[in-house]
Amino acid sequence: MLRTNLPRAARLASLANSGHDGLMHAIAVTPPAGPGERPTLSIAETPTPEPGPGDVLLQVHAAGVNRADLLQARGGYPPPPGASPILGLEAAGTVVAVGEGANPDLIGTRASALLDGGGYAEYAVAPATQLLPIPDDAAPTLAAALPEALATAWFNLVGLCHLHAGQTVLIQGGSGGVGHIAIKLARLIGARVLTTVGAAWKGERCLDLGADVAIDYHDDVPAAVADATGGRGVDVILDVLGAGALADNLGMLAPHGQLAIIGLLQGRRAEIDLNQLMARRVSVHGSTLRARTREEKAAIIAAVAHYAPYIEPSVHAVVPLRRAGEAHALMDEPGTFGKVVLQVR
Ligand SMILES: NC(=O)c1ccc[n+]([C@@H]2O[C@H](COP(=O)([O-])OP(=O)(O)OC[C@H]3O[C@@H](n4cnc5c(N)ncnc54)[C@H](OP(=O)(O)O)[C@@H]3O)[C@@H](O)[C@H]2O)c1
Repeated sequence: MLRTNLPRAARLASLANSGHDGLMHAIAVTPPAGPGERPTLSIAETPTPEPGPGDVLLQVHAAGVNRADLLQARGGYPPPPGASPILGLEAAGTVVAVGEGANPDLIGTRASALLDGGGYAEYAVAPATQLLPIPDDAAPTLAAALPEALATAWFNLVGLCHLHAGQTVLIQGGSGGVGHIAIKLARLIGARVLTTVGAAWKGERCLDLGADVAIDYHDDVPAAVADATGGRGVDVILDVLGAGALADNLGMLAPHGQLAIIGLLQGRRAEIDLNQLMARRVSVHGSTLRARTREEKAAIIAAVAHYAPYIEPSVHAVVPLRRAGEAHALMDEPGTFGKVVLQVR
């Protein structure tokens, strides 16, 4: 049920005046025609979602693109039960209505949101507990690029691995949507930051963001990490690679070190030398953000709200919603650094 501080008739009139007629434009996915082909993303008309209890309805100005969206468009990452089937894990815009139990004062405020799905659309429903306020001087295209990466980086670096000031962290893939935010977060925390990149210019960009050492991942990464840490290794690794990097990652951890795996860009199955875990008392964590409960996401958002005002995402490109397919293609371009964002309004 919609709840605003206006009577129902006035509320619906207000939504109608803002162009809302019960239908909205959103991205629809046509599966790939064959192996090696990309799915087709096109604009379609679909019913505007209604906020449920504790939810808000966001008029979307911009939506962040995440690698998970590319997987979902290929049919490889289905939304969790109850989530919108529309692509999009984060968005920024204006709250135009609230569901039962959500604070009506939110109506008219600008916010970014961590979504279970539905960001590639003119309107999206988000739990009120998954909103981050947008500062007055911040563009929605920047705000939309933050929730998913910041929540992922914080939960893994701090929530799981308890990264703290004075420790050393290795961020695998510092140029990525998550990686570049993780660099900024780790610096805010006061950690020493090592990161891996695929090109020298990306290394320079990571140093500008606050990384202390950038290592080309085509080189001998364990040797470079040993060199940078006097042979001790790092306290925490945030890893997007998975199986292909597991042995190296374990070998680069200092005693009591912690490895947090968030991506499987190099596969999901690997052999593990358990003696590496036992001898240096290291731990391996794995997690996904999307599958977490509302309560868990609310706690993560409450924690990251403290850091959000100090972290500005690097936005590589802003692409109109109708060209979402091009935005996805950009994610696979070697020249991309940081986030790609869809402009919805
Ligand atoms: N578990 C979760 O909760 C969660 C949440 C968000 C994202 N993820 C996952 O995390 C991964 C990264 O997400 P993203 O949004 O940051 O993706 P992204 O923007 O596409 O970034 C991918 C990164 O991987 C780097 N990379 C590629 N090959 C590498 C190698 N051999 N060594 C080191 N780095 C390498 C790339 O570096 P170059 O650009 O320098 O080549 C790039 O920085 C994805 O798999 C995504 O699905 C998981």
